[in-house]
Amino acid sequence: MNNRRVLVTGGAGYIGSHTVVELIGAGYEVVIVDNFSNSDASSLEGIAKITGVTPTFIEADCCDKAALREVFERYDFSSVIHFAAYKAVGESVAMPTKYYHNNLLSFINVVELMKEYHRPNIVFSSSATVYGDAEELPVTERTPRKPATSPYGNTKQMAEDMLRDIVTVDDELYGIALRYFNPIGAHPSALIGELPRGIPNNLVPYITQTAAGVRECLSIFGDDYPTPDGSCLRDYIDIVDLARAHVVAIERMVAGKCEEHYEIFNIGTGSPVSVFELVKGFEAANNLTLNYKVAARRPGDVTAVWADTTRANEVLGWRAERKLDDTLRAAWAWECHVRNR
Ligand code: UFG
Repeated sequence: MNNRRVLVTGGAGYIGSHTVVELIGAGYEVVIVDNFSNSDASSLEGIAKITGVTPTFIEADCCDKAALREVFERYDFSSVIHFAAYKAVGESVAMPTKYYHNNLLSFINVVELMKEYHRPNIVFSSSATVYGDAEELPVTERTPRKPATSPYGNTKQMAEDMLRDIVTVDDELYGIALRYFNPIGAHPSALIGELPRGIPNNLVPYITQTAAGVRECLSIFGDDYPTPDGSCLRDYIDIVDLARAHVVAIERMVAGKCEEHYEIFNIGTGSPVSVFELVKGFEAANNLTLNYKVAARRPGDVTAVWADTTRANEVLGWRAERKLDDTLRAAWAWECHVRNR
């Protein structure tokens, strides 16, 4: 079995493309499966420009088990990183069936084929959303999960549970769930980054589009939270640091270093940053002024959530390294690249 080849589902997407770059940089061969449902071929061109390698790409939907089976038949790999999933919280509330169908069926197909073809390792893209309005801060991996407040969040919890149940009774399979905090930024080359469709839901793409004049004004959702400056606190993790966490997780698995068949790691910086701090940090890092106003709270937002990263630091041997101002410069460079191409 080829320990140096990794199947990356959703590898053309935001987190997927950055992870592919880091995998190639670490000497892995990558097979990408993506149906471009929330991405396009430009990310594949970006990967090729950055790395000098054109990864194998198969356009397929992971819900199509026959198409996915062909990939398992054709390519030998020991590990899978499963990113392919829908991720818009609001859309998931409006269209729950779409989310349950896509996110859970694709996951089940991947895991069933791994079992059938004896491919032992899977890294699953989970989210800090599983902690909800957390009982303790910072959150550790042992902090109880809260009932999901959206179908999107529920698919993350359900897939985590399925993964745990499947790998703990299987001698061959190992699963690592990475719970991402708030991924932001772009590759320093500005050749790959986030490509939100329509009006961005997330803070940093909204900021960069406002700075570019695509959006008129950023709304800061609430300045009356019980936090030092009244805005929400989050743990913003640089996308390249986050991508590197996947490489470290794969290294752990292929080296046979997992202590349990199912392991969970928080992937964040460990430092809370407020919305105001992020906006001011963006202005200072890029020497520009942003048009923003304070607006009402956004329904469903939690006041504060940030990671205790001790386990990722000590057990996984990974830590966030990039400085926030560099990350915010990269986010702006990427937006400028998108506008100019
Ligand atoms: N915010 C604004 N204005 C905006 C957008 C966001 O003030 O235009 C604020 C939000 O209120 C929040 C912070 O910026 O306080 C971060 O918001 P994001 O939407 O960027 O990120 P969230 O923390 O809400 O989202 C994260 C993940 C999602 C996950 C969600 C679950 O990015 O994948 O947590 O709550 F589903």
